[in-house]
Amino acid sequence: MTQNTDGFHSGNLKVSELHGTLSHCHCNTCGKIYDNQLFLENQTHCNCGGFIRPSVILFGESLSEEAIAMAEEETIKADLFIVLGSSLQVSPANYFPTLAKRNGAKVVIVNGEKTPLDPIADLVINDKKIGNVLEEVNNLFIIKSIVETILEVGWKGGSISLVRHIINNSVRYCVTTNEGALYDEADDLPIEAYFQKSGLVSEIFQAMKVLDRYPWAQLVPIKVHDDYKEYIFNQVMKRKPRDIDRWKRVCN
Ligand SMILES: NC(=O)c1ccc[n+]([C@@H]2O[C@H](COP(=O)([O-])OP(=O)(O)OC[C@H]3O[C@@H](n4cnc5c(N)ncnc54)[C@H](O)[C@@H]3O)[C@@H](O)[C@H]2O)c1
Ligand SMILES: [Zn+2]
Repeated sequence: MTQNTDGFHSGNLKVSELHGTLSHCHCNTCGKIYDNQLFLENQTHCNCGGFIRPSVILFGESLSEEAIAMAEEETIKADLFIVLGSSLQVSPANYFPTLAKRNGAKVVIVNGEKTPLDPIADLVINDKKIGNVLEEVNNLFIIKSIVETILEVGWKGGSISLVRHIINNSVRYCVTTNEGALYDEADDLPIEAYFQKSGLVSEIFQAMKVLDRYPWAQLVPIKVHDDYKEYIFNQVMKRKPRDIDRWKRVCN
């Protein structure tokens, strides 16, 4: 819900505009909606004879019952109620945080100064701008993920890879197989059968154990990540490959 009337908060979102909106006009008598442009071009009367006016609530007018009902309904359902930039001095807007709290929500108030509802809030932020707070929160939700192949070995039509995922600065490994050749004949197999992925593990030696379900050191090396050439070569040597020269070339 918003107390603002500039229409910036609405767009395609479901927002209760408690104080109405300046983004369109309506007929004061029958309620028909009119484009602002018509009003600006001096169309002041509806075909019903009523006055066309901006759809904002003016002083002395009561708020839309529909807008209040919607705000109330959403407030009661809320797990978290966040107030952004309101001194919470005007009703009915200042009644909603209390209603939320009574219905079990956590209440957060982000405002440049103290408000009368600070005592019921679970968290009050006075020393930061709304924009900065929202940006910080947003950053917590952005998952920064980098996926890189450490090792890929193949045979005719298929390959197995050891893959590194960096997810929000924590490193995880997994093994993926692309066993295309094994299923070439079976056209009716579901596509997932061509591509399998192990769970994510946090240590590379755990991923090696998964990889060791395959005779990977005996397969054809396709790719080794620069940072892992020495490590992979040592691992290969422990597994006594038939074709050491090929591995030497790939791990230079
Ligand atoms: N009260 C009304 O009848 C009414 C009617 C129409 C529109 N509005 C609009 O609704 C909004 C809230 O109404 P109000 O009556 O509570 O206004 P208000 O002016 O009493 O309170 C706004 C609060 O926002 C805080 N604030 C402003 N920018 C901030 C920022 N960047 N970061 C953190 N805090 C910030 C200020 O410290 C202030 O306490 C205002 O934008 C107002 O223009 C109000
Ligand atoms: Zn009308």
